Order: sequence, then C-alpha cells, then structure tokens
Amino acid sequence: MSTRAATPSDLDAIMALEHASFPTDAWSPAMMREELASPHGWYVVVEEAGRLLGYAGLRAVRGAKDADIQTITIAETARGRGRGRALLTELLEEAARRGVHDVFLEVRADNPVAQSLYASEGFAEVGRRPRYYQPDDVDAIVMQLDLRGWAARRTPDDAETTGKGWC
Ligand SMILES: CC(C)(COP(=O)(O)OP(=O)(O)OC[C@H]1O[C@@H](n2cnc3c(N)ncnc32)[C@H](O)[C@@H]1OP(=O)(O)O)[C@@H](O)C(=O)NCCC(=O)NCCS
Repeated sequence: MSTRAATPSDLDAIMALEHASFPTDAWSPAMMREELASPHGWYVVVEEAGRLLGYAGLRAVRGAKDADIQTITIAETARGRGRGRALLTELLEEAARRGVHDVFLEVRADNPVAQSLYASEGFAEVGRRPRYYQPDDVDAIVMQLDLRGWAARRTPDDAETTGKGWC
C-alpha cells in the first residue's frame, strides 16, 4: 500500500470512486477539482499497482485552529484492510503540522463502519444535524477530535510506521 498527495490529474479516478461510493450524493467534478486545487485543502490517495484505491481530504484554513475531514473513501473491494485508517492518519498528521487543535467531521447516522473508524481514533459525537443528507433524509452526526490529545496518545511506533515525526 502506498499513499501520496493527490494531484489534479487524479480527478477522473477520484470521481469514478466518488460515484461508486456515494451514489445519491456524489460531489460534482467541478467541486472536486476546486477541492484538489485549494491551498486550504490537503487530499491524499492510496494506490496499488498503479490503481487508485481510495482518497481522503482535509480542509484546514491556514492559521485556523479548527479543521474538517471533508471526505474519505476506499474502493469497495479494498475495504477492511487498514487503508481507510492510513488515509485518515495522513489527514490528521497534516492538520497537526498546520497547528490545528480540533478536527470536525459529519458522518451519516446510517454508516456504522465510518463511525467506528472515527471513534477508534478518538472522535466523539458533539451534535446531530437532522435530515442533513438529502435526498436520503438521513441525519448527520457531528464528531470532534482533540488533535493534541490524539497526537499525545500515539506511540513512537505509530509515528515510525508513517515515517513522520511530530513538531
Ligand atoms: C469508511 C471507510 C473509509 C473505512 O475504510 P477501510 O479501509 O474499510 O477501513 P480500515 O480497514 O482502515 O478499518 C478501520 C476501522 O474501521 C472500522 N471498520 C472497518 N470495516 C468495518 C466493518 N466491516 N464493520 C465495522 N467496522 C469496520 C473498524 O473500526 C476498523 O478498525 P479495526 O480494523 O481496528 O477494527 C470505508 O469503509 C469506505 O470507503 N466506506 C464507504 C465510503 C464512506 O462511508 N466514507 C465515509 C464517509 S463519512
């Protein structure tokens, strides 16, 4: 498994995965292109044998103490083997490098797999947005992570695995 920063040339492969993973509320190519190009964003992809198997994005406005996990997706056939956690870790490391204190995200109330991933990294529910996801009429659960606590909980082995240190 290898992860790297996304580039604008990943757009087509990202959009193919976006439609497969979010059939009812996929982002448009224009929106995704803007995300990939934004200086406030940080998008990473995971690939194997030249095939893009997943992507994830952070929005962390320079100088701000809050950041948001924008999206995270692994191809259906590649799920359950640590790739989602690897991408989420990359985003949280970038948020830490940018001096963020709190990371927020919204997750569908009917998505226990993603909720479990987030909870296992220390995200906690802080609110609900009723019927946020349309047209499916599904609530959003708002979750928050204290990033400095997350960094402090990491073992030296974790940091070695990702090849990055903490400042
Ligand atoms: C959510 C998603 C990104 C997780 O990626 P993944 O590569 O499958 O997950 P990982 O293998 O890294 O597993 C990380 C954790 O997720 C949870 N998880 C993964 N698969 C699970 C399953 N089948 N059932 C319950 N929990 C599961 C577990 O907490 C797991 O930790 P563990 O392995 O220590 O038990 C992936 O399932 C996905 O792309 N889903 C569709 C898109 C989506 O829902 N994105 C999130 C939008 S908020």
